[in-house]
Amino acid sequence: MEPVAYFEQIASKYDTWYTTPIGSYVDAVEKEQVFSLMKGQKGVILDLGCGTGNYTLALNRLGIKVIGLDKSMEMLKIAIQKMSVPFVLGDASILPFKNQSLDSILSITLFEFLTYPEKTLSEIYRVLRPKGEIILGTMNTFSAWFLFKRLKSIFKETAYRYARFYTVNQLKILFKQAGFINLTTRGVIYFPAFIPCFLIPLVEKLDRKWATSPLRHLAAFVLIRGEKP
Ligand SMILES: C[S@@+](CC[C@H](N)C(=O)[O-])C[C@H]1O[C@@H](n2cnc3c(N)ncnc32)[C@H](O)[C@@H]1O
Repeated sequence: MEPVAYFEQIASKYDTWYTTPIGSYVDAVEKEQVFSLMKGQKGVILDLGCGTGNYTLALNRLGIKVIGLDKSMEMLKIAIQKMSVPFVLGDASILPFKNQSLDSILSITLFEFLTYPEKTLSEIYRVLRPKGEIILGTMNTFSAWFLFKRLKSIFKETAYRYARFYTVNQLKILFKQAGFINLTTRGVIYFPAFIPCFLIPLVEKLDRKWATSPLRHLAAFVLIRGEKP
């Protein structure tokens, strides 16, 4: 099955995970790192692979001009119900925007579902204005969290069955090859999803502490920020 077909099927259930204790912890910790990396908040931001609008809504609430793009109509239908911002049904490998027309692009857990990641990065480069920024968050090959999630996906259909994982160094190479400069990387979420809830405050502290340390190479969720020269 194509990843997008999978998201079409599970769209109505996609947001449920964020309401669980572990889901809301992961979401909060990831957002904290994503937003602390953002520098170009003045212009228009594209939320690429916006899904049900988790980050689109957060950006909108911060008063930032945001456009959401996704290939799944079912995911977009849910995002549209949450807010009134422009949403585009489209493919990340052929962006329907003019050259140098966007200030910033945020893309969270899209990359691992792309067949042609290099094509998407070259499109991102094309549509960003000079000094524009790209912040990409994706799942890490080297992490305990995803080892267990991937094992589970062998027996039960989950998004991880369709995902391609990246390491921090692979992301850096892809970004450099696409022409991005001033690269910064971060990582959060170090423990498997089944940790008991009472440990969440402790692991949250470790997430903050380790986000910029060499341990980020072992985090489940890794972030890379780059700029167009
Ligand atoms: C894991 S979800 C992430 C959604 C959202 N960014 C979030 O953080 O909740 C991945 C999303 O990527 C979308 N997607 C997958 N391939 C795509 C493509 N080629 N172009 C645009 N969107 C795509 C899927 O439809 C899905 O909504």
